[in-house]
Amino acid sequence: MDPAKAKEIFNHLYADVSGSTLSLQGREAKGLTSKSFVYGEVTFDAFYKILNEMHPQPGETFCDLGSGTGKAVFMAYLLFQFSKTAGVELVETLYDAAIAVQKRFEKEFHPALAAELGDRKLAFYNADLLDVDISNVDVLFMNSTCFQEDLMAPLETKLESVKSGSRILVLSKPLKSTEFSLLKQEKEEFSWGQATCFYYTRN
Ligand SMILES: C[S@@+](CC[C@H](N)C(=O)[O-])C[C@H]1O[C@@H](n2cnc3c(N)ncnc32)[C@H](O)[C@@H]1O
Repeated sequence: MDPAKAKEIFNHLYADVSGSTLSLQGREAKGLTSKSFVYGEVTFDAFYKILNEMHPQPGETFCDLGSGTGKAVFMAYLLFQFSKTAGVELVETLYDAAIAVQKRFEKEFHPALAAELGDRKLAFYNADLLDVDISNVDVLFMNSTCFQEDLMAPLETKLESVKSGSRILVLSKPLKSTEFSLLKQEKEEFSWGQATCFYYTRN
């Protein structure tokens, strides 16, 4: 989809969604005290650039591990011809917000875009990112700046299950395993300021 059109839809859908507030409420309700749940989000222009750097091909799949209100997932869905875009989020209030945005999109925008979007699938899962099967995902994103070692270590082991050639983007936390090749690293803007993006491919 034309990026200007996607941005207009995105801004409309997320105008009244405060991820930070929802995250705080959801964490408090469930007693989630780990710093891994600290909230921050992608911004449209920077994440469009990042997605391009991951060279998505028509028919590939995308997943955001720790998807918050679903901003990165929606962008991938609107901007590129992924066959499936998915987000996994443990905090229920954030997952609920993503589902609410998806419902609004289906009602207000999808009918006019049906031909352009074809049979692309969009899905959100309320689950622990360590519990989902990612072996068939081609493009993976983790906004991992605040992910603590007790999450990063098993996550990195899990990432080894993706197929050769898959692209992986982690923020602020370079991967240690020799199963991945670093393609490049670059600072980009996020909701809280700059973070370093590490682009990998699975060997
Ligand atoms: C920095 S936010 C990123 C939100 C979104 N990906 C974005 O970039 O706009 C990280 C998210 O990971 C979620 N998270 C942390 N640990 C998780 C886990 N074990 N399983 C699922 N989600 C988790 C947090 O609740 C938070 O919403």
